[in-house]
Amino acid sequence: MTIRVQLNAGSIDEIKADTVIIPVARRGKEAVGLPQGLSGIDRRLGGRISDALAAGDFRAGSGERLVVYGPRDGDIVRCILLGQGDGDSIDADALRQLGGRIGRETNRANVGRVTVVVPHGAGLTPDRSAPLLAEGALLGAYKFDRHQTSGRKTKRTGSLQITYARKLKSLASVRTKVKQSCWVAESQRQARDLSNEPPNVLYPESLAAASRRMAREVGLRCQVMAVPELEKRGYGAILAVGQGSRRPPRMITLEHGATAKRKKAGTLALIGKGITFDSGGLSLKTAGGMLEMKHDMSGASTVFGAMRAIALLDLPIHVVGVIAAAENMPSSNAYRPSDIITTGSGQTVEIVNTDAEGRVVLADALHHAVKTYTPDAMIDVATLTGAAMVAFGTAATAGLGNDEELLDEIRMAGERAGEVVWPMPLLDEHEKATRSKIADWKNSGGRVAGVSTAGAFLRGFVGDTPWVHLDIAGTGMTASTTPLHVGGGTGVGVRMLTEWVRTRCE
Ligand code: BES
Ligand code: MN
Ligand code: ZN
Repeated sequence: MTIRVQLNAGSIDEIKADTVIIPVARRGKEAVGLPQGLSGIDRRLGGRISDALAAGDFRAGSGERLVVYGPRDGDIVRCILLGQGDGDSIDADALRQLGGRIGRETNRANVGRVTVVVPHGAGLTPDRSAPLLAEGALLGAYKFDRHQTSGRKTKRTGSLQITYARKLKSLASVRTKVKQSCWVAESQRQARDLSNEPPNVLYPESLAAASRRMAREVGLRCQVMAVPELEKRGYGAILAVGQGSRRPPRMITLEHGATAKRKKAGTLALIGKGITFDSGGLSLKTAGGMLEMKHDMSGASTVFGAMRAIALLDLPIHVVGVIAAAENMPSSNAYRPSDIITTGSGQTVEIVNTDAEGRVVLADALHHAVKTYTPDAMIDVATLTGAAMVAFGTAATAGLGNDEELLDEIRMAGERAGEVVWPMPLLDEHEKATRSKIADWKNSGGRVAGVSTAGAFLRGFVGDTPWVHLDIAGTGMTASTTPLHVGGGTGVGVRMLTEWVRTRCE
């Protein structure tokens, strides 16, 4: 279900809602009281909120939740108090998570019309908190239920009122910010949808079709290269990975702001690994190792989501998204360990492991972006190595590249967007490990330093372009439930990359 967020201010007593949600902060050891300005709501519930608070069970700790029901003949059915911990420490991440919990509440059956009443409080100014609460709510309400016959019956759109207990001078400007953060969050939800789709539904051509459809909706230019075009261009890397599947590969380009004026502000490129299913190929994975491999196009879905958000925000700069889509399968026509392939750049690669396919398709995508668009900066996003997952788990995305400043830009954009990028080294030794004795490169540098040797390989295909590689093998999908996430594809990177492009325009 997606949520339409509406923003109001200063009219608490006129609220019409079945469910009222109130974030409640606490101050040290003081008893938790009714937040300022909410006595009207309390009265409409027959004083039951203050009664419940007086009992002292509810400590307003972050994560705590208390439901208070109004009288049977009253107009507000229930009031949900959400603890937010100490009032002085509500930072951006906490606001997003609070939003996530609110979004989760809107998913419950029976809630009816939902209004969040935001009391006065440190860090709760509308300007700062409303966009973050809205963003969190959309992410927290996300579910992938389109393949559940029961899920098909649930409502597709809910609505959420956010009402501030204070008059606002510039409601319009806050509404604009809320609308923008909803665009970004909705784009992240669509990235999750793509990542979660099973590989019999989402394969290179259907990913291309989804890209075309999205591009039409938001005004992006979309070009899709099929096999004859890839052959003509000599893109032997993506062709090799895709040749074992009945579902042929595609290179998909999404372009925003392709005008002379926008190009003056610069050109940025976002590159996504789009392996719609990674069986490992002839270097076949184990059954267990294959389980999550429908998510192996999460880098592509991040680029898809970020491009959508960038288009909706109409950021004043030229941005190109390139998605290398292929299915990695074993078959009599599959590429083999020992094959030597020629990439679009002319460099050759000895295949030593067909399961190291991500860097192979990216070699052509990176080269294509550099040659066609000469970007000022280029970021690739890929579920590239199990090593990234081993190193950082689901908490941090591994980042490396050929430009310290660019990596810092990305890390800072991540910080603002609530995503963690952690640097990994890229040393001469790593490049040596991925050089072949009989070709220019080999596609695996062995077991040690897996993130870095994969990065060294990619660096061979970016030329002098300032470039950062983000390995989202750990962060792109998770099994755990958090306020912003229920498991499955996370859409990680959509917020960060959108934020990065936004700051490049300033
Ligand atoms: N898609 C996988 C990486 C991966 C593994 C992502 C687990 C998420 C969870 C990638 O194509 C792969 O198989 N990498 C190999 C490389 C190795 C053969 C050099 C790996 O990491 O084991
Ligand atoms: Mn693989
Ligand atoms: Zn893979």
